[in-house]
Amino acid sequence: MGDIRIEIADRVMTIILDRAAKKNAITDAMYGDIAAALTGAADDPAIGAILIRGEGADFCAGNDISMFAASASGESDIAKSNVGPFLRALSTCPKPIVAAVTGRAIGIGVTMLLHCDLVYVAADAQLSTPFIDLGLVPEAASALLIPARIGHVRSFALFALGEKLSGVEAATLGIANKALPAEEVAAAASAAARALAAKPLSAVIATKELMRDAGAIEAALTADRDAFIRQLATPEAAAAFAAFAARKGQPA
Ligand code: COA
Repeated sequence: MGDIRIEIADRVMTIILDRAAKKNAITDAMYGDIAAALTGAADDPAIGAILIRGEGADFCAGNDISMFAASASGESDIAKSNVGPFLRALSTCPKPIVAAVTGRAIGIGVTMLLHCDLVYVAADAQLSTPFIDLGLVPEAASALLIPARIGHVRSFALFALGEKLSGVEAATLGIANKALPAEEVAAAASAAARALAAKPLSAVIATKELMRDAGAIEAALTADRDAFIRQLATPEAAAAFAAFAARKGQPA
């Protein structure tokens, strides 16, 4: 496992995004590794909870943009990538998932939180979903799940204006449980995951299942995948990926 680390202790599987030099931007291989870890945890009676965190200061700068660019240019096909298996494993995981978020959370770094069951965030974290600026649409059922938490107009400002939420705002609005000093986030999330893992597992699983509208989430995932793939093929998206690569002095 290149850029994903897995640790298991106290019935908790911790999935660590371990690509700090790239702000933990997620590559196709990482999606595949996370999907496999989540699927394995779902089937493993020795795992009672899952914790996701990032290495370094930032939680996750979103999907690796070179993957979007490769799909937009026809070099690879995102429909055949590990994004689909990752989203399926995340959105259908029967076991509780806890997230520890510090620094930046961008794109999928935010939308994955909507599939988590407890979220601890640094007060000074920055959450953003700049899909429209990239010529794209919100993914991971977030066009359904974010408005359900924070309402239409605030969600639209996040998606369309690229407005950012601080950790404090994310907690106030119900995207996170608690905003904490950054250095306390990992310990709080880990304690919560251990507490969950010590509860009667079948009751936790049944409660999670009762609380989530699996059919609506699946339908939203299908709809936004199709829209996302359409948008990837637009000149606006190609221009946004080229601009990011140019900023970094790399070919798009
Ligand atoms: N995909 C690929 N590489 C990424 C990345 C991403 N989503 N986010 C950051 N990186 C890489 C940068 O290219 C850079 O690599 P380099 O050192 O080889 O040049 C490294 O991570 C550090 O990022 P950098 O941009 O130098 O740091 P910064 O502090 O100036 O800015 C961000 C950080 C996260 C604001 C900026 O990198 C960014 O806007 N990233 C894209 C976020 C995004 O749009 N994600 C997709 C959402 S759908």
